[in-house]
Amino acid sequence: MIVKTLLVRDFRNHTSKDFVFEPGINVITGPNASGKTNIVEAVYYLSLARSFRGVDDEDLITRGLEYAEIKSQVIEGELKRSIRILITKKGRSVLVNGKKVSKLSDLAKCVNVLLFEPKDVLLFRGSPRDRRNFLDINLSKQFPLYLEYMTRYDQALRQRNELLKSGKYDENLLKTTTELLVKYAGPIINYRAMYVKDINDILIKITRALTGVKEAIEIHYKPFIPMSSDYQSQALEAFNRVLDSDLKHKATSIGVHREDISVSLNGRDIGTYGSQGENRLVALALKISPYFMVKDEDKKPVVVLDDVMSELDDIHQKRLISFLRKFSQVFITGTELEIEGATQIKLKESKEVF
Ligand SMILES: Nc1ncnc2c1ncn2[C@@H]1O[C@H](COP(=O)(O)OP(=O)(O)O)[C@@H](O)[C@H]1O
Ligand SMILES: [Mg+2]
Repeated sequence: MIVKTLLVRDFRNHTSKDFVFEPGINVITGPNASGKTNIVEAVYYLSLARSFRGVDDEDLITRGLEYAEIKSQVIEGELKRSIRILITKKGRSVLVNGKKVSKLSDLAKCVNVLLFEPKDVLLFRGSPRDRRNFLDINLSKQFPLYLEYMTRYDQALRQRNELLKSGKYDENLLKTTTELLVKYAGPIINYRAMYVKDINDILIKITRALTGVKEAIEIHYKPFIPMSSDYQSQALEAFNRVLDSDLKHKATSIGVHREDISVSLNGRDIGTYGSQGENRLVALALKISPYFMVKDEDKKPVVVLDDVMSELDDIHQKRLISFLRKFSQVFITGTELEIEGATQIKLKESKEVF
């Protein structure tokens, strides 16, 4: 898919800006604080109706104003969609072709954006939550059923934690809730295992293209209970074993909400043993790997690389660029960056509006 036009109004530091983008590589340059990341943040917002910077919607509205607006034309093969998002302090509304969209999964179908941002260098070193998020977001986009199972699992988890916290809990209710957790965790584990297996081959290919080195790379996922014919009894037993400790800590200590993935390079965990450079390139490879899971050319995700080039040496920059030339549409930001044949968007120094 192609994000053809973008209009942002009162969005962060942009009072009113109009862009026309092209298929292939789009380079957004400008001095520090000119609003480059803000632009790709708006592009990302089109796909999930939330920022990737972990902020509230309110922070996206130009300080001192009441609302922000994002408008875009997105092309998917023969299909053209116009998307309009209004962000207010009380919430946001999303219109696709003039019709209100309330389910996020419906918006995610219209625009799919894969993002790499500078802090992803820490993907394998930081908290498991970020790695789980990677799995959950991409699986939810590709398989709406996964999102459904996750939503139900989260509901059961919340209920179990409330029971644990309440002190005097109803034994039967706790049992039922735990059974629900086990029930919904089953398909979640299956989806995760399948996805990680599929992504492994892709990850090897991308890493080789980016590094030029044939290193042994492998992604690992170890479910909290391995899937087998007696998964259910094993899982229930495991929850039983941790019950006393869960009651003491007032939280559920095992389950798919605590799982993790890891990547090894030549048999050693990359988070622990990998260099900064290796971490950066493998994290980049992982974050763009879902691109190759989408088979329909018209539905290929838009790829956003915020501020990655300056951290790479010449050779790796060249490798990355030649790799990205095959993609439907890519956005790359940087203070100074020239890429042959790319569409150039130059932002000027931003004047503070307050
Ligand atoms: N809600 C907001 N209202 C006004 N300005 C904002 C808002 N949020 C961020 N900014 C401004 O946006 C600028 C940073 O934009 P950013 O896209 O991160 O720049 P860069 O070009 O370095 O990526 C800063 O000057 C910051 O003060
Ligand atoms: Mg930036």
